[in-house]
Amino acid sequence: MNNKAIITSALPYANGEIHLGHVASTYLPADVTTRFLKLNGVEAYYVCASDDFGTPILIQSEKEGKTPSEYVAHWNKRDYDDFTAFNIKFDFFYKTSSPENIAFVQDVFKKLNDSGHIYQKEIIQFYCKNDNKFLPDRYVKGVCPYCMAEDQYSDLCEKCGRVPEEITDPKCSLCGQPPTKEKTNHYFYRLTTFGNDLSKWLDGNEHLQKDVKKYVQNWITSGLIDWDITRDIPWGVPVPLEGAEGKVFYGWFDNHLAYISTAMKFLDDKGINGKEFWNSADIYHFIGKDIVYHHYLFLTSMRLGLQNEYKLPDFIPTRGHLTLQGKKISKSRNWYIGLKQFLEYYPADYLRFYLVSINPYSQDDLNFDWDDFTTRINSELIGNLGNFINRALGFTKKTFEGIVPETEKFDEKDSEAEKRINCLATDVGSLMEQNHLDRALKKIMEFSSHFNQYFQHKEPWKKGPGTANCVFLSVNATRSLAIAMFPFMPESSEEIWKQLGLEETVENNSWKDMSEMKIHPGHILGESAPLFVKVEKTDIEKHKTGLGPAE
Ligand code: 2FM
Ligand code: ZN
Repeated sequence: MNNKAIITSALPYANGEIHLGHVASTYLPADVTTRFLKLNGVEAYYVCASDDFGTPILIQSEKEGKTPSEYVAHWNKRDYDDFTAFNIKFDFFYKTSSPENIAFVQDVFKKLNDSGHIYQKEIIQFYCKNDNKFLPDRYVKGVCPYCMAEDQYSDLCEKCGRVPEEITDPKCSLCGQPPTKEKTNHYFYRLTTFGNDLSKWLDGNEHLQKDVKKYVQNWITSGLIDWDITRDIPWGVPVPLEGAEGKVFYGWFDNHLAYISTAMKFLDDKGINGKEFWNSADIYHFIGKDIVYHHYLFLTSMRLGLQNEYKLPDFIPTRGHLTLQGKKISKSRNWYIGLKQFLEYYPADYLRFYLVSINPYSQDDLNFDWDDFTTRINSELIGNLGNFINRALGFTKKTFEGIVPETEKFDEKDSEAEKRINCLATDVGSLMEQNHLDRALKKIMEFSSHFNQYFQHKEPWKKGPGTANCVFLSVNATRSLAIAMFPFMPESSEEIWKQLGLEETVENNSWKDMSEMKIHPGHILGESAPLFVKVEKTDIEKHKTGLGPAE
């Protein structure tokens, strides 16, 4: 494991609230991973920013009668607050419209331009005579020329994931009229020249997911096209060239550069040499599968064009989309659950537990289902983990006045239990290192289930021989669980720590500490209380139809 890491997750558009779909695929896996790396002593920093530029934001701010700056400032704060309530702990959360990012983007453009990776070309662009504007990206809807999917924005087909060269049967998304075509000058990035280098990079990076690599390779083989990186709209990073007045960069030219500029600002402010750190760290970009094209081709080719001044990503953990009750999430059809609203009903850890449990390290879609949520919380989180911890601590309180007793000679079951504790850090840790967060969480649950059975088998309530060993080992297993759970359920983990009567916080431990038995005979436990409250089926029935956005 590298002892340094920078973790980013897809920057949220400053254009609406964070919902369960966002956190499931990117922010939660990134947060869990960062917490894990930090416990392992890695100097890891999780940075993120709001994605402030682009046509959809301009369109929406116009609709709401706000300036784009006012509009994005509102969503930047709201997103950050919602993430914080969900215990997504960024080391730094900034914005793509920061002065640092604007300067950085302009500087990158100049370097790429000076080294011949950019050219200017007159293009014919859709124009709406009714609205008097050029119509880039989301201003136009039509049919995808590759997969024939209807009702797609001209900048990305949500069905096949490709960026169409020209959308078929175009309509202005503001007024629905077919647009005309007008001439304008745009700047293009020579993406076509990077095919070989991109292929080489893909082949040489063993951390990238195999299936994703395969379809990106297919895109490369079937032919890349040069990339139009400018727009004629008044909201974006201005193109820093004479004669380019009024032109700004396309949002996907500048947004991923904020991964770097945000990290640089944070590190430099800390007195760390940002560039040196970046280039010696493991770089993780957590994304959802809809933006593979952008991260595997745009982002990477730009870093190649900069001659690796900032190294390419080591990991791009890519996950599928969340559906809700089996149906595609859609903000416009109001079929989604806002993060803020969810947290008004249930603790963050319930959602963190559920979303990690159902989320494999793959592009497969995952489904939020209220009945499944109820079952998993009630029978797994509460019935297994909560039950064991409550039994172990409650029994020690009641029978030993909360004082951990002296042990006797271990019998076979005790030794097996001890072995489980000794192996936990490696068993769970190796899955975490491979990004299999769901499997790692399952291992933790198996550990808890084993201890439930152990406790049951030893029948300590009969106070026969071996009772003290059972208490000693169960209390230590509870401590192990608290550390192992921390990346996944930080609040519950700290609560267990308190109930164990331990000093400081879980965060101050190291990952491998969970495999040691550091609670000794004579240790006095804190107050114990049930950790979790059951999810009521009657409430769930109401949520199935009623829980939606929170504005
Ligand atoms: O798809 C999105 O939601 C974009 N806002 C993600 C941007 S990630 C980037 F900055 F690379
Ligand atoms: Zn129009």
